[in-house]
Amino acid sequence: MTTAIAGSNIAFVKYWGNLDDALRLPMNGSISMTLDAAVTTTAVEFSPDFSADSLLLNEQPAAEAAVQRASRQLDHLRQLAGVATRAHIVSSNSFPTGAGIASSASGMAALTVAAAGALGLDLPEAELSKIARLGSGSASRSIAGGFVEWYAGARHDDSYAVQIAPPEHWDLVDVVAIVSAEEKEVGSTAGHPLAHTSPFYQARLGELQRTLPLMRKAIFERDLELFGELLEAEAISLHVASMTSRPSILYWTAGTMTLLHALRGWRQRGTAVGYFTIDAGPNVHILTERAHVPALLEQLGQLECVASTLVCAAGQGARVVG
Ligand code: DP6
Repeated sequence: MTTAIAGSNIAFVKYWGNLDDALRLPMNGSISMTLDAAVTTTAVEFSPDFSADSLLLNEQPAAEAAVQRASRQLDHLRQLAGVATRAHIVSSNSFPTGAGIASSASGMAALTVAAAGALGLDLPEAELSKIARLGSGSASRSIAGGFVEWYAGARHDDSYAVQIAPPEHWDLVDVVAIVSAEEKEVGSTAGHPLAHTSPFYQARLGELQRTLPLMRKAIFERDLELFGELLEAEAISLHVASMTSRPSILYWTAGTMTLLHALRGWRQRGTAVGYFTIDAGPNVHILTERAHVPALLEQLGQLECVASTLVCAAGQGARVVG
C-alpha cells in the first residue's frame, strides 16, 4: 500500500477548453498556486486478489462514474508498469467535494503519485504531470508545488506543468469563501467542450497572449496590484465565455455576486485588501498577502452569504507520504 498527498490548486490564468478532449490538451497555458490546506490523501494497493478496481471516497463507496475515471487513470500506469493487477483505492479530501475547490486536481494528482509509487515506477515530475493531466487537466498543475505553469503544448509529450517559483517565494494566500458547498450542476469536464461555442472564446484566447507574460511578471515581482487586476479580469473572461456558451453555464449565484461587490467596496474604503477569482462553481477565492488576512476574515464574517472560509497558502507538490 502506498499513500500520497496532493494539494488542490487555484488557477490565476485558467484552463478552459481543449484542443483535444480525450488527451486533455488545453487550448491555452495556465498558471496556478498549489494549496497547502485543501488536500487529498490517497492510498493505493494493488493485489492479484482483487477482481476489480474499487474506490472508497471520503469513507463512502464512490459512484460508478468516479470508480471508472479512477480505473482509467490506473490503466495508464498499469500499462507503463506492464501489469494488469486491480487496485483498492482509499481517498479523502480535506474540503467539500465538487464545490469549486478543484477536488479532481488534488484527487488525480494524489492518485497518480500513489499508484506510480505502488507499482514501483520511478517517474520524473514532468512525466507524472502528463499522466495526471490525462485524468484531469488541472491535476497536471497539482504535481508541482508553489507557483506553477502548465505549458499547453500540442501533443501528449509537451503538455505538462512545472514550478515557476517555490512556495516561499511569496506569502500569497487564497481565502476561499464558501458560498455553497453543494455539488455544482455542470462539472468542468462538461464545460470544456462547450467553450468553443461561445462567440467570446476566441477573444479570450487572444487576450491570454497578453495576460500570461504579465501574470508571470506579477508573480516574479510580487506585485499584488498588477496581480489582482489581471486575476479578476481573467476570472471574468472565463465566466463570460461559460455564460455565453451554448448551452449557457451560469456558475455564479446571488451570494457570489454579493461577495464580489462587497470585496470591491472594502478595497475602495481601505477596510480589506484582496482580489477575487472563481472556478467552475459559486465559491469565491480571494487572493491576498498574509498580512491582510485578519481584516479580510473580519469583513467576510459579516456577510450572510458566506457559509465558511478556508485559508490556504502556497503548498508543496504531490508526494508519497507512506
Ligand atoms: C475552471 O481540470 O477540472 O477550474 O480536465 O475535465 O477534469 P477536467 O477539468 P478541470 O478544469 C478546471 C477548470 C477551472 C480552471 C482551472 O483550474 O484552470
